[in-house]
Amino acid sequence: MTGLSKEILIPRSEISRRVQELADQISRECAGEEILAIGVLKGAFIFMSDLVRAMAVPCQTDFIRAASYGAGSESSGNVVITKDLELAVEGRNILIVEDIVDTGLTLQHIVDHIKRRNPKSIKVCAFLDKRKRRKVPFEADYVGFSMDDGFVVGYGLDFNEQYRFLPDVYVIRTDVD
Ligand code: IMP
Repeated sequence: MTGLSKEILIPRSEISRRVQELADQISRECAGEEILAIGVLKGAFIFMSDLVRAMAVPCQTDFIRAASYGAGSESSGNVVITKDLELAVEGRNILIVEDIVDTGLTLQHIVDHIKRRNPKSIKVCAFLDKRKRRKVPFEADYVGFSMDDGFVVGYGLDFNEQYRFLPDVYVIRTDVD
């Protein structure tokens, strides 16, 4: 028999401490600027809401959605924007807020997509970073936690649309009896 089990990787107390640190760093580095925070749906919705509330700089918000994963857990490499921005980007300071950088393909595609609209600046803040799994060289400007291999859920992250609501981050394991 094969089943799934999950184990806490990052508890909510550590998440909130780290989110406040990121927010403080962004607030310091962007002091005096106005930011347009762009959340990448769906995974970043919880991180984005915590981050913008912890920041001390004026910020507008928008969302973008890209698909590449389908129902599986491996990126197809073929990234498509399925929900575009609603606000103008030209001349603005953009902060892209993402749940996790894995192969880097999604964020690379989104950054290129936004760059074509001539923002003043673009920075990327990722809650999690699976650095060893990159297929393209991509560095986020701000990273919450770096992790090795493994599939995580909770705090907005899903497995087949499940577990996004969980307040802690769990790693999923496949158990074989
Ligand atoms: P990338 O294009 O391979 O960097 O994939 C980025 C997207 O894959 C993220 O925005 C997530 O939606 C999804 N993803 C990658 N790793 C995980 C994981 O461990 N748990 C849940 N989603 C993941």
